[in-house]
Amino acid sequence: MKMHNVEAGGASIPCLGLGTWAARGPECASAVSFALEIGYRHIDTASAYANEEAVGEGLRASRVARDQIFLTTKVGRDDIDEGRLERAAEASLKRLGVEAVDLLLIHWPNPAIPLKRSIAALCKARRRGLARHIGVSNFTIRLLAEATALADEPIVANQCEYHPWLDQSQLIAACRKSDVAFTSYSPLGRGGDILAEPKALAIAGRHGKTPAQVLLRWHVQQNGVVAIPKSANRQRIAENIAIFDFSLTEAEMKELFSLARPNGRLISPGWAPAWD
Ligand SMILES: NC(=O)c1ccc[n+]([C@@H]2O[C@H](COP(=O)([O-])OP(=O)(O)OC[C@H]3O[C@@H](n4cnc5c(N)ncnc54)[C@H](OP(=O)(O)O)[C@@H]3O)[C@@H](O)[C@H]2O)c1
Repeated sequence: MKMHNVEAGGASIPCLGLGTWAARGPECASAVSFALEIGYRHIDTASAYANEEAVGEGLRASRVARDQIFLTTKVGRDDIDEGRLERAAEASLKRLGVEAVDLLLIHWPNPAIPLKRSIAALCKARRRGLARHIGVSNFTIRLLAEATALADEPIVANQCEYHPWLDQSQLIAACRKSDVAFTSYSPLGRGGDILAEPKALAIAGRHGKTPAQVLLRWHVQQNGVVAIPKSANRQRIAENIAIFDFSLTEAEMKELFSLARPNGRLISPGWAPAWD
């Protein structure tokens, strides 16, 4: 079994990527180059992570050709107005040392800036060749519908929190309907207690896998879903990609879906939208 790509809006996105939040400097560069050497082909960063230079170093240190790598970055919520968005994207490209990213996302919606202007600027960035594809992050069903209606270039992804504690079925259904990939951030629940869930442990035991591998398998077995686990540890980077040699049964998928709980969301800063 090989890693598959999720096809959406004309983009072909490797279903597993390396998250880089909180990794910086040489640790980040080394994680990125190691990940690429062992088969990752998708890297996620953001201007807000203050690690784009390090991600760029990691890309160059690996022996993987640039056109084999799906690279995502994000523009911060204060930079999503006309003019400003393009300048922010250009600064990201400079820090990354690349001519274009594969995917440029609006990191968070910002009600202080009309969405029409943000989406127009994002589309312009694509037309100018700063990004091969464009998308959004932390967009609710309503915001995603507005964004896709306003855009004259395809919105190919919505990157949002997702793991078995958080039911995102309606948002994922809305993404599928609009030919938008759903990218799961914090797919391992930030490496916390979710990995000690008895159901995940039991399934892991049956397959001879770790709970993290079971969770990642659960993500990538869902139609249209991409997962971007972060690790800066070589052993765990390797562990997280070793998920293409087993499958979860329908019953096992359901057991993991049953872990959803009302307060399952882990990330909700003050500027977050009113979630679905
Ligand atoms: N768009 C957004 O607003 C947004 C928000 C949050 C995150 N993201 C993106 O999504 C990525 C992933 O989310 P995340 O970093 O919040 O959380 P995550 O990927 O769910 O969890 C990362 C944490 O889990 C640990 N970990 C990784 N693999 C593990 C394994 N196999 N077993 C046990 N622990 C493991 C990591 O530690 P080690 O490094 O020590 O392995 C790290 O502390 C981010 O890095 C970022 O790229 C985007």
